[in-house]
Amino acid sequence: MIDRRGALGLGAAAAVAATGKAVAAEDDPIAVVSTWNFGKAANAAALATFKAGGSPLDAVEAGARVPEADPDNHSVGLGGYPDRDGHVTCDAIIMDDAGGCGAVAAIEDVVHAITAARLVMEKTPHTMLVGEGATRFAHEQGLPKANLLTPAAEKAWKEWLKTAKYQPVANIENALPSPPGSVRNHDTIGIMARARDGRMAAACTTSGMAFKMRGRVGDSPQAGCGLFIEKGVGAAASTGVGEEVIRIAGTARVVASMRAGMSPMAACREACEHIAHLRGDAIKELQVGFLALSATGEVGAFALMPGFTYAVTRHSGATEVSPSGSLFG
Ligand code: GLY
Repeated sequence: MIDRRGALGLGAAAAVAATGKAVAAEDDPIAVVSTWNFGKAANAAALATFKAGGSPLDAVEAGARVPEADPDNHSVGLGGYPDRDGHVTCDAIIMDDAGGCGAVAAIEDVVHAITAARLVMEKTPHTMLVGEGATRFAHEQGLPKANLLTPAAEKAWKEWLKTAKYQPVANIENALPSPPGSVRNHDTIGIMARARDGRMAAACTTSGMAFKMRGRVGDSPQAGCGLFIEKGVGAAASTGVGEEVIRIAGTARVVASMRAGMSPMAACREACEHIAHLRGDAIKELQVGFLALSATGEVGAFALMPGFTYAVTRHSGATEVSPSGSLFG
């Protein structure tokens, strides 16, 4: 069943500004979009950064830092569920539409992986640092050393250890006793911002799949998988089971489809259809969601399963959280 809002995408219709007055979408363009219900708070921080004169890069970094600092969010930053060995390891990437790209993977003891990613982009000749090197670099750059394993996340991990078989289970997130998109089983934040002058940036940050194998890196920090952006075309982010996104270079595909003329929603849907075609029964009950923002300010989203939501904030501050359409369900 396809959700009509998800099927139509947003961007062209009239918006209701924070004042409650209807305004034409072209007078109140989309400023920030992000994944899941918790994207709403991230969008607010990103918009405040825009209003303070920040760049799109500043905006997405500020937005991504909100769930990273939230101990009740168990899939991003502080409070993230650990790997099978009890270590919280995070992945993040930040990109702009001028070729800027920085990422960290399997970083530990750093709450703001997205800031570490930005530092990789701005202070090194590289695009990605991983593991111990990423952690050391972040601390050397002044990001504080922090224990990300909260008592609640440690308790959940110890519960999981009682019954879990110590072997890779790709869909362990979906085995948690909650539907996709719920508080326990929400996922990565992908956030994209567009300034009024059309400049864009995007970011993605996560603690990855709960109870993953030590060393596992998902889609999120990989350009073209968890996040991609191209000047004049737009940006896309993914959420859900990263392995399924990596197999198809999911966000590179979404952006390529937009480049070829598809709407953001159609491009997100096409990527989901491709996963389903490629993987058949293997992706039954797995969740993958794509969110895209075009260079002209149109947004679209689509997922394999129902339950994926996304938050859209206009430059006026008007914000709407909507369910995406889905292939199954
Ligand atoms: N999409 C997040 C992950 O699979 O790590």
